[in-house]
Amino acid sequence: MSKIILGIESSCDDTSAAVIRDSELLSNIMASQEVHRLYGGVIPELASRAHQLNILPCVSQAIDQAGIRQEDIDAIAFTRGPGLLGSLLVGTSFAKGLSIALGKPLVEVNHLQGHILSHFVQVPGAHKPVPQFPFLALLVSGGHSQIVRVDDYLDFTVLGSTIDDAVGEAFDKCAKVLGLGYPGGPIIDSLASQGDPERFKFAKPHIAGLDYSFSGVKTSLLYFLRDNMAIDPAFIDNNKADICASFQKTLIDILMDKLFKAVKQTGIRTVAIGGGVSANSGLRDRIAAEGLKRGWTTFIPERRFTTDNAAMIAIVGQFKYERGLLCPIDAAPISRALDYK
Ligand code: KG4
Ligand code: ZN
Repeated sequence: MSKIILGIESSCDDTSAAVIRDSELLSNIMASQEVHRLYGGVIPELASRAHQLNILPCVSQAIDQAGIRQEDIDAIAFTRGPGLLGSLLVGTSFAKGLSIALGKPLVEVNHLQGHILSHFVQVPGAHKPVPQFPFLALLVSGGHSQIVRVDDYLDFTVLGSTIDDAVGEAFDKCAKVLGLGYPGGPIIDSLASQGDPERFKFAKPHIAGLDYSFSGVKTSLLYFLRDNMAIDPAFIDNNKADICASFQKTLIDILMDKLFKAVKQTGIRTVAIGGGVSANSGLRDRIAAEGLKRGWTTFIPERRFTTDNAAMIAIVGQFKYERGLLCPIDAAPISRALDYK
């Protein structure tokens, strides 16, 4: 009997709804919120208001585009956390309302698990290979930077995490101090492709084990700009692409160094990347190249599955639903990082 899952994602500033049938994507509707660009970052109150406007059209379009009827849905999966509480509340409340109205079970999803399992979403006709267990996931987003060992669909062990900022924050902060706009990651990515990654050097952290730290490299950039601007006030304008390329390379080197260590420690040579920063061209090229050189099997998601989307929520929902892991109707959203379960 095939299973149809509706996924709902509203953890930050993207509202999304998706329908999958037996891992196959039938629709994935996204509404990004442009309003935050004006402020150079996500404004939580504006984000939840925009979710309220977007959620109904997103869900009904996802159902229409999937070519199904509401009553065909087997379960409703929603992002319970982590994220902005007001944003999560909109998706959670909507999912609960729909669950009651349709008499369909609810499944709660950890957003980070969604990023990692996005590799299992099948696009109709594509028959793409999926990671074999166990594999290592490099999860890089605006809020998290982790190396996670994945032994099964729902069996995760965090091997390393950031002790301060996430790598996406470092990208966004760099763009902000360079006056490039928000979100910074994609802008740095595109400027970096025109610059020299070896031109400037930034301090790298020395953290034991598999944990990350990105606050030092951010500070190193701030001092570097301050010192150079004192000599040449047009330093940023004259060197923008090289600064972006060098800063991006430093971030990628930091990510890769720990990944090499994790592969060595675990002996696992299947490596998958996920999360918003996995859209970065430099990181994608580097993972592919290192994989080839080191004999890893690498998984790089399609760009539409890197940033927040409901397809990844639906796929986790499917795996949990198949195992009978349903969620009570009184489950409240949780903004802090959740245990993987
Ligand atoms: O996964 P995501 O959409 O939201 C969170 O769960 O945090 O990740 C958003 C982050 C932002 O920091 C954004 O700047 C970064 O992903 N990002 C990128 C790129 N596209 C998005 N960073 C570097 N290069 C990109 N192309
Ligand atoms: Zn995310």
